[in-house]
Amino acid sequence: MHGFLHCENLPDRYSALQRKLGAIMGHIITIAQQKGGAGKTTLAVNLAVTLARLGHSVALVDIDPQGSAGRWFMTRLDQLPEPGIEFSTASAWGISYEIRKLREQFDFVVIDTPPKADSDLRPALRAADLVLVPVASSHLDLWAVEMVLYLADRESKPAMMVLTRTRSGTRLAAQVAEKAGELDALLAKSSLSNRVVYAETLGQGLAAVEAPKGPAHAELHALVDEVLAMLPGAETAVA
Ligand SMILES: Nc1ncnc2c1ncn2[C@@H]1O[C@H](COP(=O)(O)OP(=O)(O)O)[C@@H](O)[C@H]1O
Ligand SMILES: [Mg+2]
Repeated sequence: MHGFLHCENLPDRYSALQRKLGAIMGHIITIAQQKGGAGKTTLAVNLAVTLARLGHSVALVDIDPQGSAGRWFMTRLDQLPEPGIEFSTASAWGISYEIRKLREQFDFVVIDTPPKADSDLRPALRAADLVLVPVASSHLDLWAVEMVLYLADRESKPAMMVLTRTRSGTRLAAQVAEKAGELDALLAKSSLSNRVVYAETLGQGLAAVEAPKGPAHAELHALVDEVLAMLPGAETAVA
């Protein structure tokens, strides 16, 4: 009888238990690129918020000592009564532990990283289920891309390049696609165009999907679809 009384709560209890036992683990997406200004933080916060608005639980982790994602989140707390995502920061030995803890509690953990391949990047790559490498069209630095692709590969992690700040009418997309082919690396079909809304919302503690409906909504959803397709089991994680 006692057992029956608890049946109604079973799904909740069951998933809580599964999480505890490590049977359900969140997906870890690490955003990495040595080049500063490549669009890492922009990609990280927009990905995190878009996933959260689809009904997933999301934690954003800032391991960049510059703390841009942290500042973004603090601004967000001033703007919104309910930020919709969790935020955390860690450094050095604390990174692996923090990520391990969060992946037990959240469907997705999105990690924003510093613009250098130092020792702090390693645990973030090692924990990743997918590494996203933003490549800004304003300063294509293929050496920096090759470096992070090499580091991800060394940890046997799948990596996908994402073009950011793209402008129509430039040849960069074709050049990067060609280079991606040479490197045997994946390039996302969707990209983030150069749009004022990304810069504006970043400063407001928001994501572009929280601005009035515009083309950024569609490109972020297209990118999230591609990211989910790269993560086995992720499609079923919507609440
Ligand atoms: N798709 C985009 N369109 C317009 N501006 C962008 C875009 N992506 C990034 N930016 C701007 O470029 C600058 C650097 O981006 P950021 O995400 O901080 O790069 P990183 O974290 O790699 O240093 C910021 O001012 C940001 O607002
Ligand atoms: Mg940054």
